[in-house]
Amino acid sequence: MSTPYLHGHHASVLRSHSWRTVENSCPHLLPYLSNPSLKILDVGCGPGTITVDLAARVPQGFVYAIDPSADVIEKARKHAEERGVTNVRFEVGDIFAWEKLHGLEEAGFDIVHAHQVLQHLQDPLGAMMEMKRLAKPGGILAVRDWNVNAMDWYPEHAGIQKWKDLYIKVALGLQAHPSIGKKLHAVALRAGFPRSDIEASVAAWTFSTPEERQFWCGLWADRTVKSDYRQRALDSGHATEQQLEEIATAWREMEQKEDGWFAVIHGQIICHVR
Ligand SMILES: C[S@@+](CC[C@H](N)C(=O)[O-])C[C@H]1O[C@@H](n2cnc3c(N)ncnc32)[C@H](O)[C@@H]1O
Repeated sequence: MSTPYLHGHHASVLRSHSWRTVENSCPHLLPYLSNPSLKILDVGCGPGTITVDLAARVPQGFVYAIDPSADVIEKARKHAEERGVTNVRFEVGDIFAWEKLHGLEEAGFDIVHAHQVLQHLQDPLGAMMEMKRLAKPGGILAVRDWNVNAMDWYPEHAGIQKWKDLYIKVALGLQAHPSIGKKLHAVALRAGFPRSDIEASVAAWTFSTPEERQFWCGLWADRTVKSDYRQRALDSGHATEQQLEEIATAWREMEQKEDGWFAVIHGQIICHVR
C-alpha cells in the first residue's frame, strides 16, 4: 500500500537528499560493488544522487531507479546528465505497482537497494517482499532506514526534543515507521530470509562542525515550516503554527552552538537471496 510521502519534495527536503552519496549513505553496500557489470535497482531514488553514484561505480552495468514523484524523477535525470552518467534509467514508479513499469518487468537484479524509503511506507514488509522477488538468486537486498527514536544531540535542547516527539507522532499518524531502522532484520525474517542470510549493522551521520550544523540544522529549520511536513503536522492536530515556529527557532539555535553535535542513527541490512 502506498503512503503519502511525509516530507514532499520542497527545496529544503531536496537539499538533504541531494547531499547523499554511496559513501555517506550506503557504507554497507560498498563491499558488494566490486563487479563493474552489476545490474542494480534503486527503489525510491528521490533526486538520484545515490543512484548516479552507484551507476558511476558499475560502468559496465546498469542502474534502474524508480520513484512515484514525477518532479523528482525529472531532477534525477538532469543530475545524471550533468554528471555525464549514461548507464542509468529513471522511471516514475511505485514498488507496489511494479507491473506498470513496462520493459523492466523481466529484470532480475544483482542488487535491489532502498535508502530511507521503508520508514515512509505503511507496508514495509510488503515492499521488502516485492524487493526480494525482484532480486535474482545470488543477488542481495540492501536496505537502510532511520531510527528517529535513537537520534541524539548535544547540548540538551528542549526544542529539539519537541521536534523529535512531534516528528514521531506525525509519522505514526500516517502509519509510517519512523524508527524501523532498528528492526529491519526482523522485517527481513518475516519476508522469508533465514537469519543466517541477513547482515544487520548500524551507521550514523554526524553533524558537528559549523558547516555540518549549518547544513543539517538549517535544513530542518526550513523543513519544519516550509515543506509538506508543516501542513501534515498542522493537519495531525499535534502542532500549531506557533509551535512549529518555535521548533524552527530551536534548530536555528542548535545551528549556532559552537559545541553542537547531532547524530542520525541508521539501521542497515544486507540480505542474501538464494
Ligand atoms: C527520504 S526519500 C529518499 C530518497 C533517496 N533514496 C535518498 O536517500 O536520497 C524517500 C523517497 O521514497 C519515495 N517513495 C515513497 N513511496 C514509495 C513507493 N511506494 N515506491 C517507491 N518509492 C517511494 C518518495 O517519493 C521519496 O522520494
